[in-house]
Amino acid sequence: MATIEKLFQPVQEKLDDTGNKVTVVGVGQVGMAAVFSMLTQGVTNNIAMVDVMADKLKGELMDLQHGSAFMRNAKIQASTDYSISAGSKICVVTAGVRQREGETRLDLVQRNTDVLKIIIPQLVKHSPDTILIIASNPVDILTYVSWKLSGLPKHRVIGSGTNLDSARFRYLLSEKLGIATTSCHGYIIGEHGDSSVPVWSGVNIAGVRLSDLNQKIGSDSDPENWKETHTMVVKSAYEVIKLKGYTSWAIGLSLSQLAQAILSNANSVHAVSTYLKGEHDINDEVFLSLPCVLGRSGVCDVIRQPLTHTERSQLHQSADLMAKVQAGIQF
Ligand code: NAD
Ligand code: LAC
Repeated sequence: MATIEKLFQPVQEKLDDTGNKVTVVGVGQVGMAAVFSMLTQGVTNNIAMVDVMADKLKGELMDLQHGSAFMRNAKIQASTDYSISAGSKICVVTAGVRQREGETRLDLVQRNTDVLKIIIPQLVKHSPDTILIIASNPVDILTYVSWKLSGLPKHRVIGSGTNLDSARFRYLLSEKLGIATTSCHGYIIGEHGDSSVPVWSGVNIAGVRLSDLNQKIGSDSDPENWKETHTMVVKSAYEVIKLKGYTSWAIGLSLSQLAQAILSNANSVHAVSTYLKGEHDINDEVFLSLPCVLGRSGVCDVIRQPLTHTERSQLHQSADLMAKVQAGIQF
């Protein structure tokens, strides 16, 4: 009798399904930061990783598996074959090229569209009920591309969008005000990146709106120049890329938060990139960020955030830009 047979008296076959499987495509800086955040924050204990670089994939897999004793019963798998992703509740896409110093996110559009053409059909084939979370840049346009390529309903295709920009904004507000980031409330909407829109009219601390205390807040004529806080948000990714070559930890944590909201059916509100036609009188089929309620079915509601004339026209400018770039993509 083999040792294993001496040890176990079989009673019932083990089940494979943990009910919270997440696939991450792309095991680069963003993908691994997301995987590490999800595993260590207990968002999921079932991760599948897919990439085209077999050695890198195996190295990341082994390194994480060696940390299993410090995690919560994690099942971690990796393969270049998409069958490993079967049955995923969420598929997070972080694959593709990133900006080099001096490049904008929009410069990556055709290269990363070509990458998504390979990835998205495979993910949907193996997990037809999945929710897609797209992080690859330019994220708003690639969320639109993924929606088109996947054939999934719009509530199941989500871009990580300005959840990250909003987090950067709240951090910078917290530094200025000397209070915790979690106590600074405010949203950045629109494009993740250069044309993002800070909703100054809603920025508040404990319900006290800063725009009630300073009616010029966020405008060019504000003597206190709060606008600079948003400018710093826009510049911050470029600065981090210049300093360390890429951004990873904050986007990894942001993706982990979005996955948590969906898997736990939290109905919590996050600024994510969603189908915008019909919201705020936008007529184009574009994806941009607005605060959304996220639950087990994906985007459950879009929050009808009152916007000032300026905020609304900035959002329209973002939408026009997205539509223009989308019209030039080949897919
Ligand atoms: P990276 O170069 O470190 O990793 C990219 C990975 O994608 C690599 O491992 C590569 O092998 C893999 N890949 C390429 N083509 C593939 C394919 N066809 N199938 C599977 N895997 C493939 O890059 P990174 O720093 O992790 O950035 C990834 C993407 O995320 C970039 O587009 C970047 O701009 C974007 N990003 C987005 C945000 C955001 O807020 N949305 C933040 C940071 C980075
Ligand atoms: C970010 C990436 C580069 O960190 O989009 O904002």
